[in-house]
Amino acid sequence: MIKIKSQREIDLMRQAGHIVYLTHQYLKPYIKEGITTKQLDKLAEDFIRSKNAIPSCKGYEGYPATLCVSINEEVVHGIPSNRKLKKGDIVSIDVCVCYKGYHGDSAWTYPVGEISNSKKELLLYTEQALYEGLNQIKPGNRIGDISNAIELYANSHNLGVVKELVGHGVGSSLHEEPDVPNYGKKSTGPILKEGMVIAVEPMLNYGTADIYMLEDGWTIVTDDDSPSAHFEHTVLVTKDGYEILTGE
Ligand code: MF3
Ligand code: CO
Repeated sequence: MIKIKSQREIDLMRQAGHIVYLTHQYLKPYIKEGITTKQLDKLAEDFIRSKNAIPSCKGYEGYPATLCVSINEEVVHGIPSNRKLKKGDIVSIDVCVCYKGYHGDSAWTYPVGEISNSKKELLLYTEQALYEGLNQIKPGNRIGDISNAIELYANSHNLGVVKELVGHGVGSSLHEEPDVPNYGKKSTGPILKEGMVIAVEPMLNYGTADIYMLEDGWTIVTDDDSPSAHFEHTVLVTKDGYEILTGE
């Protein structure tokens, strides 16, 4: 069942989403050569708690940290560690918070110093793929319209679309129905209705779409070691479109 949020729930989700947005803004100036991913995690956790929110990922199915920090060929779910960011890296930071029982979820991929042209393209096109998907959102359209728009855009730039991981509904649980795949057919899947909240999150690779999991049981990496990017917003379906809850 896909939940329709009440006005009260929507207000809380706006606040949760805003804390996610503020966390990204807070972290941005620290995303520089030399910082460890664990230091970023500590900054994020302290910031989120200072806003009276809780990091949703910490303890989620045993996940040990606040952030998922995924570097270069890491697609998602990189565990913060003593690894230092280097110039030329791209780093995806996935922030999930819970405020008064409601979640917000947004990932963004950042450059560390000057990056290669191929990585620049990957970031530009993956961010745009997110908006291509979001632009399909309005009552009466279907999940497949979002999926198809992302897939077509990714294909037009020869990027690999990760199929095993999908976007999702968001609410009093971090992951709710429906799944929001980054590939699929137009006019298929659940119908969007005003008051639904979903996270749309293309994960695109500069090479093969294929991925595997590292032995840590969390980190997902590309099969061919090509770089991967991840852009995600939590959005509310409105009367005639959508509202980004994790944006400015
Ligand atoms: N945004 C991530 C997702 O939707 C959250 C992962 S939390 C974790 O998959 F605990 F699984 F890492
Ligand atoms: Co998500």
